[in-house]
Amino acid sequence: MGKEKLRIAIQKSGRLFEDSIKILKDSGIYIDNGKEQLRASSNNFPLEAMYLRNGDIPQYLRDGVVDCAIIGENVLIEKGQDIIRGEKLGFSKCRVSLAVPKSFKYTTIKDLDGCKIATSYPNTVNRFLAEKGITGELHIINGSVEIAPNIGLSQAIVDIVSSGSTLFKNNLKEVEVILKSEAVLAISPQISEERKAILNKLQFRFNSVLKART
Ligand code: PRP
Ligand code: MG
Repeated sequence: MGKEKLRIAIQKSGRLFEDSIKILKDSGIYIDNGKEQLRASSNNFPLEAMYLRNGDIPQYLRDGVVDCAIIGENVLIEKGQDIIRGEKLGFSKCRVSLAVPKSFKYTTIKDLDGCKIATSYPNTVNRFLAEKGITGELHIINGSVEIAPNIGLSQAIVDIVSSGSTLFKNNLKEVEVILKSEAVLAISPQISEERKAILNKLQFRFNSVLKART
């Protein structure tokens, strides 16, 4: 193989980071792991890792600045419908759900028609509301979404639910699951043939690891 390296985006901070490094390690690919560096190459596989913010990764894939990424499906559904979704990697399982205060007498989605909804996933929420034939007033916030109903910002929220403990601690209840998500290997629509050949090797190794894990 020549000097060509495959560029992979990995979530810099957040819940995917450790499992992303682990699947690479289990695939026999070692990366010098100082993520302060933001870029690091493997010395035993033609791979360069770039540690990026979750929400920025779809744009990097679209532009071909990175060839592939380990990313949550939920982020692709929100910001990267045009990005190729490769294999599911079996970790970082979660759902994107609608939640309301425990005291809210919720029976159907119609109960939220015209309500304020706080979320970091506006596209996902708008698609969901349109499907259900209702409207909502979205408040876009980037984190700590579960606080919104308790401070009077909204009647409902849409956010990621994993263990459910953040909802519980904030006196909220999950009333609709909008989508289910897990980590996937996402692929840039711009990837070159040469790098695609490296990607195939990476996918082969990932698949072996995933098979061994089941
Ligand atoms: C994420 C997500 C939920 C929570 C879900 O937030 O936004 O709030 O985790 O996990 P749980 O169901 O296991 O409680 P995170 O802690 O990453 O912080 P942020 O929302 O402020 O970014
Ligand atoms: Mg949160």
